Amino acid sequence: MHSITVRPEAAEDARAIDVVHISAFGGEAEAHLVSALRAASTYNRELSLVAELNGRIVGHVLLTRVPLRRDGEEKNVLALGPMSVVPSQSHRGIGSELIRASVTLAREKGYGAIIVVGHPEYYRRFGFTPAKELQVTCNLPAPEDALTGMEIVAGNLAGGGHVEYPEPFLELY
Ligand SMILES: CC(C)(COP(=O)(O)OP(=O)(O)OC[C@H]1O[C@@H](n2cnc3c(N)ncnc32)[C@H](O)[C@@H]1OP(=O)(O)O)[C@@H](O)C(=O)NCCC(=O)NCCS
Repeated sequence: MHSITVRPEAAEDARAIDVVHISAFGGEAEAHLVSALRAASTYNRELSLVAELNGRIVGHVLLTRVPLRRDGEEKNVLALGPMSVVPSQSHRGIGSELIRASVTLAREKGYGAIIVVGHPEYYRRFGFTPAKELQVTCNLPAPEDALTGMEIVAGNLAGGGHVEYPEPFLELY
């Protein structure tokens, strides 16, 4: 297998990232979500990672700072997603590389936890735990099982809390 490079998004990558999401999800909703999030105050290009294979962008994952509230207190965690890999390159470990890079990045940036709405069986292997067990909820009308979380700093999610995704995510549902 050729080597995969994971790096932060550059300004000129937007169109290629759209193509990845449209081809992987089979529709434009996630590409629109990424565009909307780029325009939001929470956007940080350093938290947007692309996977390159032979100089071509074949995968993307976006991390967004989101508030987690509990008992009148608030802290920031990272929400992972959307994430996708072009169908022609799936099942080659690229998605796994993007998740591992996300965890490393979150640690480097000082975040205590990552949450994700997605296929729970997929994320479990990377150490994500059902949100129900963590007593974490969110404002998205996603199936309860789809929400999982992972502590980067031990104890960061202790006691749980409620995560508020920004508006563009709500438009996906
Ligand atoms: C999910 C996705 C990002 C995985 O990327 P990838 O590069 O193929 O992932 P990896 O090669 O690291 O891992 C592949 C493994 O993931 C698992 N997997 C893939 N899709 C899955 C799904 N929908 N549900 C559960 N497990 C899944 C399988 O066990 C697969 O193993 P296999 O190759 O032995 O069949 C990619 O398939 C994709 O873009 N899918 C469409 C978009 C999407 O659903 N994104 C959201 C993810 S929550």
